[in-house]
Amino acid sequence: MRVSEAINSRRSMRAFKPDPVSKADLEWIVTNANRSASNGNLQPWKLYVTMGEARKRLSAAIHKAMDSGDNGPGSEYDVYPKHFAPVYDQRRKLVGKQLYTLLGVPKGDAAGMLKQFKKNYDFFDAPVGMILCIDRGMGNGQWIDCGIFLDQLMLLAREKGLHTCPQAAFSRYQHVVRRELNIPEDQVVICGLALGHADPDAVPNNLITERAPIEDFTTWFTT
Ligand SMILES: Cc1cc2nc3c(=O)[nH]c(=O)nc-3n(C[C@H](O)[C@H](O)[C@H](O)COP(=O)(O)O)c2cc1C
Repeated sequence: MRVSEAINSRRSMRAFKPDPVSKADLEWIVTNANRSASNGNLQPWKLYVTMGEARKRLSAAIHKAMDSGDNGPGSEYDVYPKHFAPVYDQRRKLVGKQLYTLLGVPKGDAAGMLKQFKKNYDFFDAPVGMILCIDRGMGNGQWIDCGIFLDQLMLLAREKGLHTCPQAAFSRYQHVVRRELNIPEDQVVICGLALGHADPDAVPNNLITERAPIEDFTTWFTT
């Protein structure tokens, strides 16, 4: 598979088939992702991989916390900016509208939206759920490195015929994730990553998100 094929066939999948993923394939993905560039070669990523019953236990623990109102302190970092400039606000709202339209959840249907949101915590039924963390002492620069590592995981999954969905939703229930996976206090939970065989017939997997033209963000200096 060409790199561009991996990039262009990757999209966030929100419905997976139960078909398992072999530990050997996961080790191959993680081993190759570990070649990610990082400033000073710090390699600041910490990865927790759950599958089988362990994946289900993590999901069950988060659902239990949600249902009992155990919301904890929430995410330990700003998942989104505190204030959205109009262009970003429009993009965020558009993708939400597109997803919920596909799912047949009308605007204002809080119960329908919550139902979809909760599926995050089942990793959208993917057989593999990963949690990406970083040492608390790391700076902004190392969060870049972790982002690169996350992307390499997603692209390498494509080479194995697998799909993914990155999930900041897990940072919101980091207190439960931490408890379940024995994540030390000196690490920050960045996000989850659902990984498995996407269900091609599932409605939400038909969402092809838009991108701004490169002129909107690229400044050229050619002479
Ligand atoms: C760091 C990160 C966190 C994300 N968190 C979530 C999430 O919690 N739930 C979800 O359904 N999608 C999540 N997404 C997926 C984005 O909505 C998606 O990447 C974006 O809409 C672009 O669509 P695409 O991935 O299909 O190209 C996340 C993506 C990133 C990069």
